Amino acid sequence: MRILFIGDVVSSPGREMVQEYVPKLKKKYHPDVTIINGENAAGGRGITQKIYRQLMGAGAQVITMGNHTWDNREIFEFIDDTPALVRPANYPDGTPGKGYTIINANGVEVAVVNVMGRTFLPPIDCPFRKIDDLLMEIRKRTPLIFIDFHAEATSEKQAFGWYVDGRASAVVGTHTHVQTADNRILPEGTAYMTDVGMTGPYDHILGMDREAVIRKFVTQLPVRFEVPKVGRTQLSGVVIDLDKKTGKAKKINRILINEDQPFFE
Ligand SMILES: [Fe+2]
Repeated sequence: MRILFIGDVVSSPGREMVQEYVPKLKKKYHPDVTIINGENAAGGRGITQKIYRQLMGAGAQVITMGNHTWDNREIFEFIDDTPALVRPANYPDGTPGKGYTIINANGVEVAVVNVMGRTFLPPIDCPFRKIDDLLMEIRKRTPLIFIDFHAEATSEKQAFGWYVDGRASAVVGTHTHVQTADNRILPEGTAYMTDVGMTGPYDHILGMDREAVIRKFVTQLPVRFEVPKVGRTQLSGVVIDLDKKTGKAKKINRILINEDQPFFE
């Protein structure tokens, strides 16, 4: 059982990378499930229904979100009718949408969960207590459980990975937009990586126009961040192999595609 996951797709430069490379990655790796984090897909903030369809059309089966889930208010019109769109599970009860979905991947049920950290991010319910409840619920149906842990602090991400080791198949981080080189399998069988990295502008700062970000640091004045529309781009992802009976991870490999690290078929 192989999962392909693409990290935070930022605006049109990120979406173009998805359209170009996800079909090629699928041809190369033959994943059973393809998942994309789409929380930055619409102009860097949130997602629209059209963009959701575009990402699904490029080959995703599930789209995960994060702290920007609600930034494009169009989401309120379609989130409840969109089973393959998953927002952080630890929003309070009654929040629109859902925190996980279970899909049928070539005859095997795989759960895709989105959870958000709360260190250096807006307050939200405890991700640790929430995942205890969810894992109990999901494991009645399937041991194949992929978690996109959308969080800022490396320590919180590592703590979360170790906390669910042996209970989830994979915990991969999103949100910081920089790929980490710590992909590994924890002793009880959970694949872990602190951050998958970002899919979008390569010559800028976390996907935002670098001149604006530099100006903010230099002047300390309010600056509006925009996604640059031209320039080189990158794709960040991860491929994870699971034992389809036990749900335990067998392999976790990074994917990074940019001009310095070109894609080979
Ligand atoms: Fe984020």
